[in-house]
Amino acid sequence: MSMQVIRSVSAFKNFRSALASSTKIGFVPTMGALHEGHLSLIKQAKDKSDLVICSIFVNPIQFTNASDLKKYPRNLEKDIDLLQNANCDILFAPESEDIYQEKHVLTFKFGELENTMEGTSRPGHFNGVATVVSKLFNIVKPNFAFFGQKDLQQVAVIKDLVKALSFDLEIVRCKTLRNEEGLALSSRNARLSKTEKKEALVFFQTIQLAAEIIKNGGAVNAAIGQASYFFKEKTGFEPEYLKVVFADTLVDYKNEKTQEELAVCIAAPFGPVRLIDNLVFNV
Ligand code: PAF
Repeated sequence: MSMQVIRSVSAFKNFRSALASSTKIGFVPTMGALHEGHLSLIKQAKDKSDLVICSIFVNPIQFTNASDLKKYPRNLEKDIDLLQNANCDILFAPESEDIYQEKHVLTFKFGELENTMEGTSRPGHFNGVATVVSKLFNIVKPNFAFFGQKDLQQVAVIKDLVKALSFDLEIVRCKTLRNEEGLALSSRNARLSKTEKKEALVFFQTIQLAAEIIKNGGAVNAAIGQASYFFKEKTGFEPEYLKVVFADTLVDYKNEKTQEELAVCIAAPFGPVRLIDNLVFNV
């Protein structure tokens, strides 16, 4: 069956209201420029649902600077082909004016969750994500929504949002896909040269090093120190942040005994882009 493409909110709402209430809907929200990582979300959505809906919407209000928004890669025709080959059922790709008709943007507060890592580096970013994701959840009304673990803080914020607004759906966090060099797949990688893509492996090596030290009983401070030193040796600069946190809450890990998942998270500008990555592990 070929994929149906729906370009307006009202057409989508008509389509949605005609679906049987027993249909289990898996939703993969994206900003397009799709890669294997997105396609793996579609696959996991297919395994869990009767109908898979993907959205492509480059959300202007989650970009902290206008040039990043302008340069964000867009290729709807190619994305449609990829989704069709991945057997996605429906693509919802609305225009910005259709999504944002109101004059004011709502303000969300996520407490400590937004006062760390990406929240500090990109003020307003999670407010923009929470706004658009709430709108999309209200329009699509999915049973499951799939998000990549590469944006670990985004997953934590969205889980909080789902609780706070009582959305009746399950958030599924899906593993990060990497290229053969180990670079986490991201739409922004399209702006890296071949050499930069190879050099960017340093992100994965750095978080692997930190996780190994901790798994072998090393102290967090020592792990961060050694891993930052390694990163600086390779790149000539310090990471913007390199932290070890509890993967669900992003609270700093301080070497306490725990069964919870931990994550080493890193971010730094790299060539023409800013890269983030993380590694989830247990001690
Ligand atoms: O992860 C993304 O691509 C975006 O932040 C999302 C969740 C689609 C919201 O615009």
